[in-house]
Amino acid sequence: MRQIVWTAFIMGGILMSGLPAVAQTQTQRGEYLVTIMDCTGCHTPGTFLGKPDMQRPLAGSEVGFQIPGLGIFYPPNLTPDAETGLGKWSEDDIIKAVRTGVRPDGRQLVPIMPYHSYGNLTDADAKALARYLKSMKPVRNQVPGPFGPNEKPTAAYLTVVMPQ
Ligand code: HEC
Repeated sequence: MRQIVWTAFIMGGILMSGLPAVAQTQTQRGEYLVTIMDCTGCHTPGTFLGKPDMQRPLAGSEVGFQIPGLGIFYPPNLTPDAETGLGKWSEDDIIKAVRTGVRPDGRQLVPIMPYHSYGNLTDADAKALARYLKSMKPVRNQVPGPFGPNEKPTAAYLTVVMPQ
């Protein structure tokens, strides 16, 4: 009798802990992460103008961030378009950029892109995130820039104003 109760207890525990993982596919997990890690908040057109274009989520921002002395950086298109997005990046390229801020060409992204906070992403979550981005509908949208500190920007940007 005692054995039966224990078996039922253990089986119940396995079932309950297993359920959420079974219910959520890798792509659903990726979509969830893209939302709560706020990739959408920076990389979706219109967000900084108060009207996020949810027909083109993650297709890149037309508003950049100026870092004094460094230049102006626009959150790029993360959809898998080959020319203007991440179409030519592998999942490992995406994971490396998200965790360390290093692009496939070796350039270090500016830390407006929160890779310091994303560095401890688990392997499973990093994979789900990259796979979700690669599964999205490709959207053609080239963001402006980046512009160097002495270049004249052709698009809107947010900046840091130093007190006089
Ligand atoms: C606070 C705004 C912000 C958030 C939040 C953010 N990013 Fe970024 N991201 C940027 C900016 C700005 C750049 C461009 C930086 C540069 O060019 O140096 C960038 C660059 C990138 C790049 C490099 C793309 C390329 O073509 O060079 C990838 C990949 C990326 N972000 C993925 C993500 C993912 C995935 C998330 C969510 C997990 C995310 N970002 C969240 C602002 C953000």
